[in-house]
Amino acid sequence: MKVSLVAMVMIVVLPFNILAQKKADVALTPPMGWNSWNYFACDVSEALIKEMADAMAANGMAEVGYEYIVIDDCWQVSRDENGKIVEDPVRFPSGIKALADYVHSKGLKFGIYSDAGKRTCQERPGSLGYEEIDAKTYEEWGVDYLKYDWCHNGIFRTSKETYPTMAKALYELDRPILFSMCNWGRQKSWEWAGDYAHIWRTTHDIKPTFSGVSVFFLSVLRILDKQDGLEKHGGVNGWNDPDMLQVGNGDLTMDENQAHFALWSMLAAPLMAGNDLRNMPPDVLSILTNKEAIAINQDALGKQGYRLINGKDFNVYVKELSNDEWAVCLLNRGKAEQTIDFNFRDQLKLEQDFTVHNIWSNEDIGTSDATFKFDMPSHSVVFVRLRR
Ligand code: GLA
Repeated sequence: MKVSLVAMVMIVVLPFNILAQKKADVALTPPMGWNSWNYFACDVSEALIKEMADAMAANGMAEVGYEYIVIDDCWQVSRDENGKIVEDPVRFPSGIKALADYVHSKGLKFGIYSDAGKRTCQERPGSLGYEEIDAKTYEEWGVDYLKYDWCHNGIFRTSKETYPTMAKALYELDRPILFSMCNWGRQKSWEWAGDYAHIWRTTHDIKPTFSGVSVFFLSVLRILDKQDGLEKHGGVNGWNDPDMLQVGNGDLTMDENQAHFALWSMLAAPLMAGNDLRNMPPDVLSILTNKEAIAINQDALGKQGYRLINGKDFNVYVKELSNDEWAVCLLNRGKAEQTIDFNFRDQLKLEQDFTVHNIWSNEDIGTSDATFKFDMPSHSVVFVRLRR
């Protein structure tokens, strides 16, 4: 009797263990790269993707850790008689494999997009019912990263029961593929997706604006506010994903671009640039390639930062780092400039003294027991590392 009870428990628990064991260690720190959606939407092509790979390899991004070039929706048009997915022959005349080879030849990794439903969000063929065939195709093509969306799933399936099918198909391959689950936070993705996904979206799509007015329009600040409390669910090899970067896009000012990048670094979010890498102003590039901000995002301890002070117009985020150091980000959310008196020792209840290092100006500005006076323009951050 006892034995069969153990067996029954094993039958119920085992499939999850097998999946968990097979999740490749490809996201020990949050993934960094570029994705086509935020700027180009459906207007993707082989030429464009190659130019992005060229840009990333040459402009300093690859040097500071960006590695994935990901084509989002609209590369696929149909399935052939064997069910194999077919790329758009006009936009991708050399085929996806040749494109992946090209991206690899630049020392970068290659990512692709599909959907857990019958069709993608842009009405292209989805992977439902074709998970194994698609996974094998990705392996054959040399895909390193799969973003997997949640459109056209009907009302009878939940993402919790649907996503493992593709995860399992991927883990049966010899090739490790990073699995990016894009179900917009449905069923509290953060509570269960870590069993098989490397990153999971926590919200609907980010828009290229810092502070929206409508509840249905997810600005940077609205997305930020939805991350409260999720910090305990993200960590090494399984990260909350507050969506891709809008740095350099839409109506974001330079202060807002900096704030967005600083906050996503604090959240240990995937750093997936979403702008046109070929034509970016130098100050946007310098934000995206700031080594110290990236070091905070990529810190090996893998702790997601959280909101310590939650005022209407003033917030403070803290992130624990390796070697007992801390990152701290002060945010002026308001429309007006604010002058803030801030003492790191008192506000963070620090038991030892630190050197306060300003990330953007790359200089030590004092010690943690001093009271600083920060003049903060609207939508700007003070972003520091407390060094021992
Ligand atoms: C959904 C996703 C976006 C993008 C589009 C593509 O909206 O959340 O990130 O992939 O689909 O159609």
